[in-house]
Amino acid sequence: MSLARTNLAILGLQWGDEGKGKVVDLLSPHFRQVVRFQGGNNAGHTVVVDGQSIALHQVPSGALHPGCFLVVGNGVVLNLEVFQQELDRLKARGFDLSGRLLLSEKAHIILPHHIALDQWREVRADKVGAKIGTTGRGIGPAYEMKAARMGIRLGDLLHPERLAERIRPGYEEVRLRLGADAGLPALEAIVEGLLRTAEPFLPFIGDAQGHLMAAWKRGDSILFEGAQATLLDIDHGTYPFVTSSNCSLGGLFTGTGLPPKAVDKILGIAKAYTTRVGAGPFPAELLDATGDRIREVGREFGTTTGRPRRCGWFDAPITAHACRTNGVDGLAIMKLDVLDCMDEVGLIVGYRTGEGTVTTKLPSCAGDWAGIQPEVKRFKGWGSTRGITDPRKLPVEAQAYLESLAESVEVPMAYLSTGPDRAEGYVYPGTFLEPLLG
Ligand code: GDP
Ligand code: IMO
Ligand code: MG
Repeated sequence: MSLARTNLAILGLQWGDEGKGKVVDLLSPHFRQVVRFQGGNNAGHTVVVDGQSIALHQVPSGALHPGCFLVVGNGVVLNLEVFQQELDRLKARGFDLSGRLLLSEKAHIILPHHIALDQWREVRADKVGAKIGTTGRGIGPAYEMKAARMGIRLGDLLHPERLAERIRPGYEEVRLRLGADAGLPALEAIVEGLLRTAEPFLPFIGDAQGHLMAAWKRGDSILFEGAQATLLDIDHGTYPFVTSSNCSLGGLFTGTGLPPKAVDKILGIAKAYTTRVGAGPFPAELLDATGDRIREVGREFGTTTGRPRRCGWFDAPITAHACRTNGVDGLAIMKLDVLDCMDEVGLIVGYRTGEGTVTTKLPSCAGDWAGIQPEVKRFKGWGSTRGITDPRKLPVEAQAYLESLAESVEVPMAYLSTGPDRAEGYVYPGTFLEPLLG
């Protein structure tokens, strides 16, 4: 099968910010449909073109390619105000999405009281040391309302006369919880604001499932863009320090309405090291000068919130878990250049438990991560890999490191990224990606 007709899922294998945006942008010209299926504007996907950086939050990262049709699936939660800002920014840079954007009528809307509840809860949790460190964008409450059958979907905007009654139950619950002094806008103001913001989007709302089903049947190639990552997945991540959606492969099917047969290959995205933003277990964390160096060189500050990311060595057990959960066919290893010029580079191959044994099994309870110490294998450092596009130019030490890394997660390398720009990196010869980019 040629990749031109291979439907490909791009999924994060760590705690997010692996470089999914770069990979989606890179592959997009070879796909007709580019689809987001979960998450919301907690995501920040950066695309760098000719040294210019563009951050996308809800717009699929195929936006910069005029031949791509962009779909926002039903599993996404949308902040329409932020969406408009994204569209305006793209337009100012010459990217017009009209005629090539479809928003699922079943996608849910993030409302002002969802954002207020998210932030209120974090402030209270912080007082007892139980903060998750959410992005504060109302993601959790929007998904909660969906599960509680009080969510508002894009399709509801087509019936403005019923909107206030649809929003009221969720709004009243939040008001009861936060108290009358919380400064929530009045329900009428929320409805009015929503209708105003939503107006330009009305022509884009439609049957995304039907659109994708037809695209699949006629043989359009489809690229699925995951947001967040497996360790932030509400079921398979480090619960409760996770986001509120299924960011792993299962979320693709519920978040689009397509069946598993519609996906041919899965490309897992991981950094050559590990980062995490927000609270929760992170055995790899380096609270020393090496961690600081990775943060500075890798510019590890959140695209969405600007928060410093916690940094550490590549963690094979967590990444192997993500590879298994998603059935990953090939690895895209990103940001190898950030580890350039280090004397030595570490790879976490297991965890030493309180009893002194080494395991690769991940605890299912967040509290059980506390006692484990990473077992680190050390590799000799290398010179520069920045911008390398030819596998023969990769220093032997970097090659040895990557070979061990791929072996430790039991998935072959498919792509190596050596800088933020589209051009920086290469596809591994003989892999399923080669017919496309090689
Ligand atoms: P995403 O959320 O998975 O799309 O990742 P983000 O965009 O939040 O974070 C990845 C950051 O790393 C972005 O600023 C990218 O421009 C940058 N990046 C991607 N690949 C590389 C690479 O190979 N080397 C370097 N130095 N930066 C990269
Ligand atoms: P991309 O798509 C990194 C983290 C937050 C917090 C937890 C819950 O750019 O990889 P939420 O606001 O979702 O309720 O926060 O999840 N988080 C991310 N971390 N990259 C992301 O997205 C993230 N989206 C959410 O920091 O720890
Ligand atoms: Mg990001």
